[in-house]
Amino acid sequence: MSEIQHQFVKKILTVASHGAYEKGYGVAPSNIALCKYWGKRDSNLNLPLNSSLSISLGTKGTRTQIRRLPSDQFILNGEPVDPTTPFAHRLSTFLDLFREPCRAPGFEVITENTIPTAAGLASSASGYAALVLALNDLAGWDLPRQLLSMLARLGSGSASRSLFNGFACWHRGERDDGRDSFAEAIDTKWSDFRIGILTLTDAEKPVGSRAGMQRTVETSPRYADWPARAAIDFGVLKRAIKHRDFETFGATAEANALEMHATMREAIPPLDYFLPQTRTQIGRVQQLRAEGLPVYLTIDAGPNVKLLFQAANTTEVENAFPALEIIDPFGTSHA
Ligand code: PMV
Repeated sequence: MSEIQHQFVKKILTVASHGAYEKGYGVAPSNIALCKYWGKRDSNLNLPLNSSLSISLGTKGTRTQIRRLPSDQFILNGEPVDPTTPFAHRLSTFLDLFREPCRAPGFEVITENTIPTAAGLASSASGYAALVLALNDLAGWDLPRQLLSMLARLGSGSASRSLFNGFACWHRGERDDGRDSFAEAIDTKWSDFRIGILTLTDAEKPVGSRAGMQRTVETSPRYADWPARAAIDFGVLKRAIKHRDFETFGATAEANALEMHATMREAIPPLDYFLPQTRTQIGRVQQLRAEGLPVYLTIDAGPNVKLLFQAANTTEVENAFPALEIIDPFGTSHA
Protein backbone atom coordinates (compact mmCIF):
# COMPACT_ATOMS: atom_id res chain seq x y z
CA MET A 1 0.00 0.00 0.00
CA SER A 2 1.33 3.43 -0.86
CA GLU A 3 2.32 6.29 1.39
CA ILE A 4 -0.70 8.23 0.06
CA GLN A 5 -3.02 5.49 1.29
CA HIS A 6 -1.33 5.40 4.70
CA GLN A 7 -1.77 9.17 5.02
CA PHE A 8 -5.42 8.90 3.96
CA VAL A 9 -6.13 6.25 6.62
CA LYS A 10 -4.25 8.24 9.23
CA LYS A 11 -6.41 11.31 8.55
CA ILE A 12 -9.62 9.31 8.88
CA LEU A 13 -8.43 7.73 12.10
CA THR A 14 -7.74 11.12 13.67
CA VAL A 15 -11.44 11.28 14.55
CA ALA A 16 -11.53 7.66 15.78
CA SER A 17 -11.84 6.65 19.41
CA HIS A 18 -9.33 4.14 20.70
CA GLY A 19 -10.05 1.02 22.62
CA ALA A 20 -8.36 -2.33 22.30
CA TYR A 21 -10.40 -5.46 22.33
CA GLU A 22 -9.31 -9.05 21.98
CA LYS A 23 -11.59 -9.75 19.04
CA GLY A 24 -13.61 -7.77 16.55
CA TYR A 25 -16.67 -8.80 14.52
CA GLY A 26 -18.19 -7.48 11.33
CA VAL A 27 -21.10 -8.50 9.12
CA ALA A 28 -21.89 -6.93 5.76
CA PRO A 29 -24.25 -7.69 2.89
CA SER A 30 -23.13 -8.17 -0.67
CA ASN A 31 -24.43 -5.57 -3.08
CA ILE A 32 -25.38 -5.43 -6.72
CA ALA A 33 -24.79 -2.23 -8.61
CA LEU A 34 -27.70 -0.89 -10.64
CA CYS A 35 -25.59 2.00 -11.91
CA LYS A 36 -22.14 0.42 -12.16
CA TYR A 37 -18.85 1.73 -10.85
CA TRP A 38 -16.63 1.28 -13.87
CA GLY A 39 -13.35 3.19 -14.08
CA LYS A 40 -11.10 4.99 -11.63
CA ARG A 41 -9.97 8.61 -11.62
CA ASP A 42 -7.30 7.70 -9.05
CA SER A 43 -6.21 4.09 -8.60
CA ASN A 44 -4.17 4.80 -5.48
CA LEU A 45 -7.11 6.09 -3.48
CA ASN A 46 -9.64 4.05 -5.48
CA LEU A 47 -11.59 7.11 -6.60
CA PRO A 48 -14.23 6.40 -9.24
CA LEU A 49 -14.88 8.22 -12.49
CA ASN A 50 -18.62 7.97 -11.88
CA SER A 51 -21.00 7.76 -8.95
CA SER A 52 -22.69 4.39 -8.55
CA LEU A 53 -25.87 3.08 -6.98
CA SER A 54 -26.58 -0.38 -5.59
CA ILE A 55 -28.95 -2.63 -3.70
CA SER A 56 -27.65 -4.74 -0.84
CA LEU A 57 -28.54 -8.41 -0.68
CA GLY A 58 -29.94 -8.72 2.83
CA THR A 59 -28.58 -11.90 4.43
CA LYS A 60 -26.24 -12.73 1.54
CA GLY A 61 -22.82 -11.47 2.42
CA THR A 62 -19.84 -11.93 4.69
CA ARG A 63 -19.28 -12.51 8.38
CA THR A 64 -15.79 -11.79 9.71
CA GLN A 65 -13.96 -12.19 12.98
CA ILE A 66 -10.54 -10.68 13.60
CA ARG A 67 -7.86 -10.75 16.31
CA ARG A 68 -4.22 -9.80 16.57
CA LEU A 69 -1.48 -12.44 16.16
CA PRO A 70 2.30 -12.38 15.61
CA SER A 71 1.72 -13.00 11.88
CA ASP A 72 -1.18 -12.99 9.41
CA GLN A 73 -3.40 -16.05 9.20
CA PHE A 74 -6.56 -16.23 7.13
CA ILE A 75 -9.41 -18.73 7.17
CA LEU A 76 -11.99 -18.52 4.40
CA ASN A 77 -15.16 -20.61 4.66
CA GLY A 78 -13.52 -22.94 7.18
CA GLU A 79 -10.33 -23.54 5.14
CA PRO A 80 -6.91 -22.01 5.86
CA VAL A 81 -5.84 -19.72 3.01
CA ASP A 82 -2.43 -20.35 1.42
CA PRO A 83 -0.46 -17.12 2.10
CA THR A 84 1.07 -17.20 -1.39
CA THR A 85 -2.32 -16.82 -3.15
CA PRO A 86 -3.36 -13.46 -4.68
CA PHE A 87 -6.34 -13.44 -2.26
CA ALA A 88 -4.04 -13.60 0.81
CA HIS A 89 -1.62 -11.12 -0.67
CA ARG A 90 -4.37 -8.58 -1.34
CA LEU A 91 -5.76 -9.01 2.17
CA SER A 92 -2.36 -8.66 3.87
CA THR A 93 -1.56 -5.58 1.81
CA PHE A 94 -4.86 -4.00 2.86
CA LEU A 95 -4.21 -4.88 6.51
CA ASP A 96 -0.81 -3.15 6.27
CA LEU A 97 -2.79 0.09 6.48
CA PHE A 98 -3.97 -0.81 9.97
CA ARG A 99 -1.00 -2.38 11.75
CA GLU A 100 0.04 -0.53 14.90
CA PRO A 101 3.68 -0.45 16.06
CA CYS A 102 2.84 -1.08 19.71
CA ARG A 103 0.68 -4.16 19.07
CA ALA A 104 1.08 -7.66 17.62
CA PRO A 105 1.88 -7.09 13.93
CA GLY A 106 -0.37 -9.74 12.41
CA PHE A 107 -4.08 -10.41 12.14
CA GLU A 108 -6.08 -13.59 12.17
CA VAL A 109 -9.06 -13.12 9.88
CA ILE A 110 -11.79 -15.75 9.92
CA THR A 111 -14.29 -15.03 7.23
CA GLU A 112 -17.41 -16.81 5.96
CA ASN A 113 -19.16 -15.94 2.72
CA THR A 114 -22.72 -16.87 1.97
CA ILE A 115 -22.07 -16.13 -1.70
CA PRO A 116 -19.55 -17.79 -4.04
CA THR A 117 -16.17 -16.05 -3.87
CA ALA A 118 -15.18 -14.32 -7.14
CA ALA A 119 -18.20 -15.48 -9.14
CA GLY A 120 -19.22 -11.93 -9.99
CA LEU A 121 -21.51 -11.80 -6.97
CA ALA A 122 -19.43 -9.07 -5.39
CA SER A 123 -17.95 -11.13 -2.54
CA SER A 124 -15.00 -8.73 -2.34
CA ALA A 125 -17.51 -5.97 -1.65
CA SER A 126 -19.05 -7.64 1.41
CA GLY A 127 -15.63 -9.06 2.33
CA TYR A 128 -13.86 -5.72 2.67
CA ALA A 129 -16.91 -4.06 4.24
CA ALA A 130 -17.13 -6.80 6.90
CA LEU A 131 -13.38 -6.60 7.45
CA VAL A 132 -13.48 -2.84 8.04
CA LEU A 133 -16.40 -3.29 10.45
CA ALA A 134 -14.42 -5.98 12.29
CA LEU A 135 -11.37 -3.68 12.50
CA ASN A 136 -13.59 -0.87 13.77
CA ASP A 137 -14.85 -3.23 16.47
CA LEU A 138 -11.39 -4.60 17.35
CA ALA A 139 -9.76 -1.20 17.68
CA GLY A 140 -12.79 0.52 19.20
CA TRP A 141 -12.73 3.30 16.56
CA ASP A 142 -16.47 3.84 16.71
CA LEU A 143 -16.40 5.55 13.33
CA PRO A 144 -19.57 6.51 11.44
CA ARG A 145 -20.41 4.38 8.41
CA GLN A 146 -19.62 7.12 5.91
CA LEU A 147 -16.01 7.21 7.12
CA LEU A 148 -15.84 3.41 7.23
CA SER A 149 -17.07 3.39 3.61
CA MET A 150 -13.96 5.39 2.66
CA LEU A 151 -11.71 2.83 4.34
CA ALA A 152 -13.56 -0.10 2.72
CA ARG A 153 -13.19 1.67 -0.65
CA LEU A 154 -9.42 1.19 -0.43
CA GLY A 155 -9.91 -2.58 -0.35
CA SER A 156 -12.51 -2.74 -3.13
CA GLY A 157 -14.45 0.18 -4.58
CA SER A 158 -17.81 -1.56 -4.41
CA ALA A 159 -17.16 -2.42 -0.73
CA SER A 160 -17.95 1.20 0.14
CA ARG A 161 -21.63 0.49 -0.67
CA SER A 162 -21.74 -2.74 1.36
CA LEU A 163 -21.68 -0.79 4.62
CA PHE A 164 -25.40 -0.17 4.10
CA ASN A 165 -28.60 -2.16 3.77
CA GLY A 166 -31.13 -1.41 1.04
CA PHE A 167 -30.23 1.08 -1.69
CA ALA A 168 -26.88 2.83 -1.37
CA CYS A 169 -24.97 5.29 -3.47
CA TRP A 170 -21.26 5.94 -3.65
CA HIS A 171 -20.44 9.49 -4.61
CA ARG A 172 -17.71 10.06 -7.13
CA GLY A 173 -16.52 13.14 -5.29
CA GLU A 174 -14.44 15.92 -6.82
CA ARG A 175 -11.50 16.30 -4.47
CA ASP A 176 -8.10 14.82 -5.27
CA ASP A 177 -7.58 13.78 -1.66
CA GLY A 178 -10.63 11.45 -1.79
CA ARG A 179 -12.31 12.91 1.28
CA ASP A 180 -15.62 13.55 -0.51
CA SER A 181 -15.90 10.12 -2.16
CA PHE A 182 -18.00 8.16 0.31
CA ALA A 183 -21.07 5.94 0.26
CA GLU A 184 -24.38 6.47 2.03
CA ALA A 185 -27.76 4.81 2.26
CA ILE A 186 -30.72 6.00 0.22
CA ASP A 187 -33.30 6.30 2.92
CA THR A 188 -36.23 4.42 1.43
CA LYS A 189 -37.78 0.95 1.59
CA TRP A 190 -39.11 -0.53 -1.61
CA SER A 191 -40.76 -3.51 0.03
CA ASP A 192 -42.01 -5.29 -3.07
CA PHE A 193 -38.74 -5.04 -4.97
CA ARG A 194 -37.14 -8.45 -5.58
CA ILE A 195 -33.81 -9.68 -6.91
CA GLY A 196 -33.35 -13.10 -8.50
CA ILE A 197 -29.91 -14.63 -8.73
CA LEU A 198 -29.27 -16.99 -11.60
CA THR A 199 -25.93 -18.59 -10.79
CA LEU A 200 -24.67 -20.04 -14.05
CA THR A 201 -21.22 -20.83 -12.65
CA ASP A 202 -19.32 -20.28 -9.43
CA ALA A 203 -15.95 -20.73 -11.13
CA GLU A 204 -13.41 -18.02 -10.46
CA LYS A 205 -13.41 -15.41 -13.22
CA PRO A 206 -10.30 -15.28 -15.43
CA VAL A 207 -9.89 -11.48 -15.25
CA GLY A 208 -10.72 -9.67 -12.00
CA SER A 209 -12.86 -6.52 -12.14
CA ARG A 210 -9.90 -4.33 -11.16
CA ALA A 211 -7.81 -5.45 -14.14
CA GLY A 212 -10.85 -5.49 -16.45
CA MET A 213 -11.74 -1.95 -15.48
CA GLN A 214 -8.23 -0.69 -16.07
CA ARG A 215 -7.95 -2.36 -19.47
CA THR A 216 -11.28 -0.88 -20.52
CA VAL A 217 -10.45 2.67 -19.39
CA GLU A 218 -7.05 2.55 -21.07
CA THR A 219 -7.95 0.93 -24.39
CA SER A 220 -11.68 0.95 -25.18
CA PRO A 221 -12.78 3.82 -27.45
CA ARG A 222 -16.33 3.23 -26.26
CA TYR A 223 -15.34 4.11 -22.67
CA ALA A 224 -15.11 7.83 -23.57
CA ASP A 225 -18.89 8.19 -23.28
CA TRP A 226 -19.28 6.08 -20.13
CA PRO A 227 -18.81 8.62 -17.28
CA ALA A 228 -21.37 11.07 -18.72
CA ARG A 229 -23.81 8.27 -19.47
CA ALA A 230 -23.41 6.79 -15.98
CA ALA A 231 -24.03 10.21 -14.42
CA ILE A 232 -27.36 10.39 -16.27
CA ASP A 233 -28.32 6.82 -15.29
CA PHE A 234 -27.45 7.57 -11.65
CA GLY A 235 -29.91 10.50 -11.58
CA VAL A 236 -32.64 8.59 -13.44
CA LEU A 237 -32.34 5.62 -11.06
CA LYS A 238 -32.52 7.83 -7.98
CA ARG A 239 -35.69 9.48 -9.28
CA ALA A 240 -37.20 6.13 -10.32
CA ILE A 241 -36.58 4.77 -6.82
CA LYS A 242 -38.17 7.83 -5.26
CA HIS A 243 -41.26 7.54 -7.46
CA ARG A 244 -41.37 3.71 -7.41
CA ASP A 245 -41.27 3.80 -11.19
CA PHE A 246 -40.28 0.17 -11.72
CA GLU A 247 -40.21 0.17 -15.53
CA THR A 248 -37.84 3.17 -15.72
CA PHE A 249 -35.79 1.70 -12.90
CA GLY A 250 -35.44 -1.73 -14.52
CA ALA A 251 -34.85 -0.44 -18.04
CA THR A 252 -32.15 1.99 -16.84
CA ALA A 253 -30.35 -0.62 -14.72
CA GLU A 254 -30.39 -3.17 -17.54
CA ALA A 255 -29.15 -0.71 -20.15
CA ASN A 256 -26.42 0.49 -17.78
CA ALA A 257 -25.12 -3.06 -17.25
CA LEU A 258 -25.22 -3.94 -20.94
CA GLU A 259 -23.40 -0.72 -21.81
CA MET A 260 -20.69 -1.50 -19.26
CA HIS A 261 -20.16 -4.89 -20.91
CA ALA A 262 -20.16 -3.22 -24.35
CA THR A 263 -17.30 -0.93 -23.23
CA MET A 264 -15.29 -4.03 -22.23
CA ARG A 265 -15.88 -5.86 -25.47
CA GLU A 266 -14.25 -2.94 -27.30
CA ALA A 267 -11.16 -3.05 -25.08
CA ILE A 268 -7.87 -4.28 -26.54
CA PRO A 269 -7.71 -7.23 -26.14
CA PRO A 270 -11.50 -7.52 -25.82
CA LEU A 271 -12.94 -8.60 -22.52
CA ASP A 272 -16.07 -10.73 -22.50
CA TYR A 273 -17.36 -12.08 -19.19
CA PHE A 274 -20.44 -13.65 -20.75
CA LEU A 275 -20.83 -17.41 -21.17
CA PRO A 276 -23.10 -18.79 -23.90
CA GLN A 277 -25.69 -19.42 -21.13
CA THR A 278 -25.46 -15.73 -20.14
CA ARG A 279 -26.55 -14.71 -23.63
CA THR A 280 -29.33 -17.31 -23.61
CA GLN A 281 -30.68 -15.95 -20.32
CA ILE A 282 -30.51 -12.34 -21.52
CA GLY A 283 -32.55 -13.40 -24.55
CA ARG A 284 -35.11 -15.13 -22.33
CA VAL A 285 -35.52 -12.10 -20.06
CA GLN A 286 -35.98 -9.80 -23.02
CA GLN A 287 -38.47 -12.23 -24.61
CA LEU A 288 -40.52 -12.44 -21.40
CA ARG A 289 -40.61 -8.68 -21.25
CA ALA A 290 -41.78 -8.48 -24.85
CA GLU A 291 -44.60 -10.80 -23.77
CA GLY A 292 -45.58 -8.34 -21.03
CA LEU A 293 -43.75 -9.55 -17.90
CA PRO A 294 -41.94 -6.64 -16.17
CA VAL A 295 -38.61 -8.35 -15.46
CA TYR A 296 -35.19 -6.78 -16.06
CA LEU A 297 -31.61 -7.88 -15.52
CA THR A 298 -28.20 -6.72 -14.48
CA ILE A 299 -24.78 -8.39 -14.73
CA ASP A 300 -21.53 -7.49 -12.95
CA ALA A 301 -18.00 -8.35 -14.02
CA GLY A 302 -18.85 -12.03 -14.36
CA PRO A 303 -21.23 -14.34 -16.23
CA ASN A 304 -24.07 -14.59 -13.68
CA VAL A 305 -27.38 -12.87 -14.29
CA LYS A 306 -29.41 -11.06 -11.64
CA LEU A 307 -33.08 -10.41 -12.28
CA LEU A 308 -34.97 -7.37 -11.06
CA PHE A 309 -38.72 -7.70 -10.59
CA GLN A 310 -41.61 -6.97 -8.23
CA ALA A 311 -43.21 -9.29 -5.67
CA ALA A 312 -46.49 -9.42 -7.62
CA ASN A 313 -44.68 -11.20 -10.49
CA THR A 314 -42.77 -13.73 -8.35
CA THR A 315 -44.74 -16.77 -9.54
CA GLU A 316 -44.33 -16.00 -13.25
CA VAL A 317 -40.62 -15.27 -12.80
CA GLU A 318 -40.09 -18.45 -10.76
CA ASN A 319 -41.90 -20.52 -13.35
CA ALA A 320 -39.68 -19.13 -16.09
CA PHE A 321 -36.47 -19.58 -14.05
CA PRO A 322 -36.91 -22.54 -11.67
CA ALA A 323 -33.26 -22.42 -10.46
CA LEU A 324 -33.63 -18.82 -9.36
CA GLU A 325 -32.61 -17.77 -5.86
CA ILE A 326 -34.95 -15.00 -4.81
CA ILE A 327 -33.85 -12.26 -2.45
CA ASP A 328 -36.09 -9.81 -0.65
CA PRO A 329 -33.62 -6.98 0.02
CA PHE A 330 -35.96 -5.17 2.43
CA GLY A 331 -36.99 -8.29 4.34
CA THR A 332 -36.59 -8.31 8.09
CA SER A 333 -33.31 -10.21 8.38
CA HIS A 334 -30.09 -8.64 7.20
CA ALA A 335 -26.48 -9.77 7.04
O1 PMV B 1 -15.18 -3.15 -6.37
P1 PMV B 1 -14.49 -3.73 -7.53
O2 PMV B 1 -13.12 -3.15 -7.71
O3 PMV B 1 -14.46 -5.23 -7.50
O4 PMV B 1 -15.32 -3.35 -8.85
C1 PMV B 1 -16.68 -3.67 -9.00
C2 PMV B 1 -17.12 -3.45 -10.39
C3 PMV B 1 -18.53 -3.92 -10.73
O5 PMV B 1 -18.94 -4.96 -9.88
C4 PMV B 1 -18.51 -4.46 -12.15
C5 PMV B 1 -19.52 -2.77 -10.68
C6 PMV B 1 -19.97 -2.31 -9.32
O6 PMV B 1 -20.28 -1.12 -9.21
O7 PMV B 1 -20.07 -3.11 -8.38
